[in-house]
Amino acid sequence: MIRLLLFYSFVTFVVGSECPIGWTFNADTSSCYAISARLFTFDDSVQYCNSIGGKSVSIDSYSERDALVAITNSTFLQPWLGARRNTTTNRFYNLDGSYFYTLMWTTNEPSVNGDCVTFKRATPSGLQVTQCYQLQPAFCKQTPALCNSAVLGGPNTWSGTFQSPGYPVQYYNNLDCRYLINSPNNTFITIIFYPFVIEEWYDSVEVYEGNSTSYYDYIGTVSSYNMARGFESSGNVMNVKFKTNYAITDKGWLATWKAKKDMPTITQTGTNGTLVSPNYPNNYDSYDEQVYQVSVAWGMQVNLTIDDFRTESKFDYLNIYNSSVQSNSTLVATLSGALPVPWNWVSPKSYMSMKFVSDGTLQFKGWHAIWNYC
Ligand SMILES: *[C@@H]1O[C@H](CO)[C@@H](O)[C@H](O)[C@H]1NC(C)=O
Ligand SMILES: *[C@@H]1O[C@H](CO)[C@@H](O)[C@H](O)[C@H]1NC(C)=O
Ligand SMILES: *[C@@H]1O[C@H](CO)[C@@H](O)[C@H](O)[C@H]1NC(C)=O
Ligand SMILES: *[C@@H]1O[C@H](CO)[C@@H](O)[C@H](O)[C@H]1NC(C)=O
Ligand SMILES: *[C@@H]1O[C@H](CO)[C@@H](O)[C@H](O)[C@H]1NC(C)=O
Ligand SMILES: *[C@@H]1O[C@H](CO)[C@@H](O)[C@H](O)[C@H]1NC(C)=O
Ligand SMILES: *[C@@H]1O[C@H](CO)[C@@H](O)[C@H](O)[C@H]1NC(C)=O
Ligand SMILES: *[C@@H]1O[C@H](CO)[C@@H](O)[C@H](O)[C@H]1NC(C)=O
Repeated sequence: MIRLLLFYSFVTFVVGSECPIGWTFNADTSSCYAISARLFTFDDSVQYCNSIGGKSVSIDSYSERDALVAITNSTFLQPWLGARRNTTTNRFYNLDGSYFYTLMWTTNEPSVNGDCVTFKRATPSGLQVTQCYQLQPAFCKQTPALCNSAVLGGPNTWSGTFQSPGYPVQYYNNLDCRYLINSPNNTFITIIFYPFVIEEWYDSVEVYEGNSTSYYDYIGTVSSYNMARGFESSGNVMNVKFKTNYAITDKGWLATWKAKKDMPTITQTGTNGTLVSPNYPNNYDSYDEQVYQVSVAWGMQVNLTIDDFRTESKFDYLNIYNSSVQSNSTLVATLSGALPVPWNWVSPKSYMSMKFVSDGTLQFKGWHAIWNYC
């Protein structure tokens, strides 16, 4: 418990309007609380809470009990709790059906001095039996909608971003949020979480295939510990689940997703060949990302000649690599716009590769290339 108390001291409130006016947000329980100025009998306090859009506070965890100590610190009279005795069984129960912790009674309780329950703040704090007809403040609670759960994307959306609630200041405890991403037909989704700062191990972000959170559709868990930040789906629907526990929050995360067409790599070997952009000589499509691999007999080289080339300048381009591995360090040329042809290049090794990329606007006929070995 001492450990938990230390934890709480790190929790700071998110500046915002989580609760309706007159209610106070508690970051440990992520709930809103209100204590009435007027005094009520037990039954009337229950009605009062209902009338202002809440319910009587039934304590459902030790962390909530500890939070109530702080919340009631300026309340002189002990407020009602949503708990009472079942006079048939003689056992106490929470009105909201949550588990009733018998270890939360204060000293010498439960006594026979009543059938209803108030909250005693002074140490040892806890539950105290009170006659139901007594006049005490009502103590009400409501759970605000803190998740920014959303259905994102759509049949014509190729990319987007979303973020944890409260980002970049602080997310909340006790969250269970869902983000369902849809991309165009015949695409798959890549996603990157960056920045990503959460209470690792206790709070989690999980990625799933389709509209699912089942074990069978699990893709991965985002982690700054092992640098797992990027994931991809095989289909055009991806579900992201963000769950947080009852203590410690942090800045949160920003997710950036992109739809990608499923375009298998075009591979050519032998002595010569022809390579073209998708649909050539007709216009290529938007959001193409086509990879080409060429290899010839060991000791030979690839002699590449582009004899026709027209793309949207800067945004649609053909990358040429002097390796089968495509990276900045193997990039030889980025061709774009109205390239003067013929454009010729001889690979230093017996293999080379290319990647053609187009964006969402302005399509042209693309390019035509021939290669032979030399
Ligand atoms: C009650 O608690 C609040 C926040 O927990 C604190 O700001 C305030 O000073 C406390 N008041 C008293 C009388 O202890
Ligand atoms: C009290 O307990 C009895 C026996 O378990 C049950 O039948 C009854 O519904 C309970 N009453 C309330 C108000 O929960
Ligand atoms: C996408 O696929 C779904 C299901 O196969 C189909 O109902 C829908 O018409 C397709 N949408 C487009 C834009 O092709
Ligand atoms: C996703 O699945 C949930 C739970 O099965 C369901 O309630 C929801 O309607 C689904 N959403 C969509 C967009 O299919
Ligand atoms: C080009 O390759 C084809 C087989 O793909 C071969 O039949 C032909 O002889 C080659 N032409 C030259 C000039 O090497
Ligand atoms: C490369 O191919 C072009 C066009 O076919 C040809 O003109 C050129 O001589 C070739 N270069 C080499 C080094 O084989
Ligand atoms: C590769 O180069 C591009 C453009 O210069 C740059 O934005 C990107 O960060 C580089 N990637 C790596 C891995 O260095
Ligand atoms: C491949 O291209 C890179 C970048 O232009 C260059 O630094 C590297 O030396 C080239 N490799 C070979 C084998 O020519």
